[in-house]
Amino acid sequence: MSDVRTWLVTGANRGIGLEIVKQLIASPTNVVVATCRKPESASALQELATSSSGRIHIVCLDVSDSASISTSVDLAKGVLNAHGLDYLINNAAIMPVHDNSFNLSEETILRTFKVNVVGPALTTQAYLPYLEKGKRKIIVNISSALGSLSLCPQKQQIASYSLSKSALNMLTSKQAVARPDLISFVIDPGWVRTDMGGQAALLSPKDSAAGLLEVVTSATKESSGKFFRYDGETNPW
Ligand SMILES: NC(=O)c1ccc[n+]([C@@H]2O[C@H](COP(=O)([O-])OP(=O)(O)OC[C@H]3O[C@@H](n4cnc5c(N)ncnc54)[C@H](OP(=O)(O)O)[C@@H]3O)[C@@H](O)[C@H]2O)c1
Repeated sequence: MSDVRTWLVTGANRGIGLEIVKQLIASPTNVVVATCRKPESASALQELATSSSGRIHIVCLDVSDSASISTSVDLAKGVLNAHGLDYLINNAAIMPVHDNSFNLSEETILRTFKVNVVGPALTTQAYLPYLEKGKRKIIVNISSALGSLSLCPQKQQIASYSLSKSALNMLTSKQAVARPDLISFVIDPGWVRTDMGGQAALLSPKDSAAGLLEVVTSATKESSGKFFRYDGETNPW
C-alpha cells in the first residue's frame, strides 16, 4: 500500500477530534493513530476502531505530561516506522474558565498553557523524526478565532484560553520559519457544537471536520505559517 497516509490526532475521544478520526477512516488508505488520555473509557473511539479493519490505533497520550508524550511515541512507532507520519493534528485543548485579564489565576493560566501550547509544542518535537520520514510532513495546530487579536470579540474575555491560542499561533509561525521542509499551519475550526463549543454553536462537528480535512489534505508549501479557517478562508492574526 504505497499510497498509505498516516495521521496522528490528539484528543481523539470526543468532539472535533473524534469526528476527524471518523471521517479519516472512511478512506481506505488512511491509517490513524488516535490518541486520548484514557483509552479504556474512550468507548466511541473504541467502537470506531473495531470497525476500522485495523486502521485505527488507539494510543494513550496526555499532552500535558512529557512522560506520556514520550511513552506514546514508543506505542505508536510500530505503526509509524514503515511510512513515517504524514499528518500530525494537535487538536487536544482545554478552556477551563471564562476568566478575564484582571482576575487570572496562576493555576488556571499555567494549566491552560501546558495543555494548549506546551502540549502541541512537545508533541510535535517528539514526533518530528516520524514527520521527517512522512511524505506530507504536515503539522496542524488547531487554534481559534479567540486567539486572533483582530477577531476575538472585545467583550468576550476568556482570557487564559485566548492567550494560549495566540501563543499557539506564534508557535506555529515559528515552526514554519524554522523548518521550511515541513508544512506547519493553524486552523480555526469555527464555533462547533461540542462540550467546549456548547449546543448553541453554529456548526456541527461533521461540517467543521469535513472543511478542516479539506484544508489539511490540500495543503501545500504555501500553506505553511498561515492561519486558516475550516472553510479554507484565512484569518487575520
Ligand atoms: N468547539 C469549538 O467551538 C471550538 C472553537 C474554536 C477552537 N476549538 C478548538 O478545537 C479543538 C477541539 O475542541 P473540541 O470542541 O472538540 O473540544 P472538546 O469537545 O472539549 O474536546 C477536547 C478534547 O481535548 C482532550 N484533552 C483535553 N486535555 C487533554 C490533555 N491534557 N491531553 C490529551 N487530551 C486532552 C479531551 O480529552 P478528555 O476527554 O480526556 O478530556 C477531548 O478529547 C481544540 O483545540 C479547541 O480549542 C474548538
